[in-house]
Amino acid sequence: MNILVLGSGGREYAFAWKIAQSELVDKLYIAPGNAGTDAVGENLVINIADFNAVKETVLKLGIEMVVVGPEQPLVDGIVDFFKNDAELKDIKIIGPDQKGAQLEGSKAFAKAFMEKYNVPTASCFTVTAANLEEGLQYLTTQKAPYVLKADGLAAGKGVLIIDSLEEAQYELKDMLSGKFGSASAKVVIETFLKGIEVSMFVLTDGEHYVVLPEAKDYKRIGDGDTGLNTGGMGAVSPVPFVTPEFVEKVETRIIKPTIQGLKEENIDYKGFIFIGLMNVDGDPYVIEYNVRMGDPETEGVMTRIDSDLVALLDACAQGRLNEVEYQTSKNTSVTVMLVSGGYPEDYKKGMVMTGFEELSDCIIAHAGTKFNDKDEVVTSGGRVIAVTAHGKNIEEARAKAYQNVEKIKFEGVNYRHDIGLDLMKF
Ligand code: AMP
Ligand code: GLY
Repeated sequence: MNILVLGSGGREYAFAWKIAQSELVDKLYIAPGNAGTDAVGENLVINIADFNAVKETVLKLGIEMVVVGPEQPLVDGIVDFFKNDAELKDIKIIGPDQKGAQLEGSKAFAKAFMEKYNVPTASCFTVTAANLEEGLQYLTTQKAPYVLKADGLAAGKGVLIIDSLEEAQYELKDMLSGKFGSASAKVVIETFLKGIEVSMFVLTDGEHYVVLPEAKDYKRIGDGDTGLNTGGMGAVSPVPFVTPEFVEKVETRIIKPTIQGLKEENIDYKGFIFIGLMNVDGDPYVIEYNVRMGDPETEGVMTRIDSDLVALLDACAQGRLNEVEYQTSKNTSVTVMLVSGGYPEDYKKGMVMTGFEELSDCIIAHAGTKFNDKDEVVTSGGRVIAVTAHGKNIEEARAKAYQNVEKIKFEGVNYRHDIGLDLMKF
């Protein structure tokens, strides 16, 4: 099978790395990819926001399966574009249709869906300019901290958690007047959930599902969870508090009602669901749905799936996920993201990277990397490269991951030193 992965980050590298191991693959393409993906497949220079360009490539190269990495093409309707096109309708495409992508694309849609299908989540109130006064009043009935969420996609920055009522009221007004552009024309005020977060991943064909390895993500830039939010600075899988009993609760209370809801809403969903959960005293509550895999969680999770990913994706596309064999590794993976100095604010690009030949017993996933005109690997983004190592426990995996992290050099390199430390107490 010829397969095309859309995207250019560490997540897409991890997909490509795993897909390349399958005997079911003939040719693997990544568009636009990065300096690493070009070694596991072939990079294609196309703008993935231009669906006609994607179509032309798919037909020209005889691509039989498309794996959509990021959320934007899904929210923009790439799956519907394929299904409604006479020449593309039989191509397998992994991801939900545009309506399903609203689970990530609109927080208000996701909250209404969860309420309708009794999926446990924080209670909430949706505000627009038309009912601002009610929104300000609602805040006075809530306890601090106050959680304000821009309805639409805001590059991971649209959630504010605020300690004072006055500031929350100020921010609510500011968001409705365009703080995050049209993404915050609608704002969801949510009750604060106190607990530990975990990212759970499901692959569904709309009827059946497979629960993939879970992971814990480290969102803040600084050690000890300090500083600004980022796309994610590291990940650990499995997560010690995700016991079989906890997974059972997630399946019964969240995954099954979610899939039932997809069916009742006539949503065509053949793809990944990333459920951001809060574990509140042993009970799971949904913080958010994403309609794609997490980054950097995927960089760890893919290394823990022993089964053939292409066989899983093929079964997913054909609605027979109940028939596949699925096995995961008992190892623990620790993933550390190396980022450009200054990230998540301004940072320099084009820094030459060295040390690759000294790495051992780890898997590196290129994210923001490219080749310069001297064919050197240079940085080209904020999150540059993810190093994943396996061990029999977090301690062992951490030690191996950090030994390798220290060998990769580029000017301004930064990373967190505490990935996994908080989980060692469980
Ligand atoms: P989201 O973009 O919805 O994932 O929110 C970003 C982050 O805000 C989450 O990863 C949580 O750490 C935090 N968060 C979101 N909603 C809540 C909530 N209801 N209670 C506590 N923390 C939250
Ligand atoms: N690591 C969180 C995300 O991918 O949204």
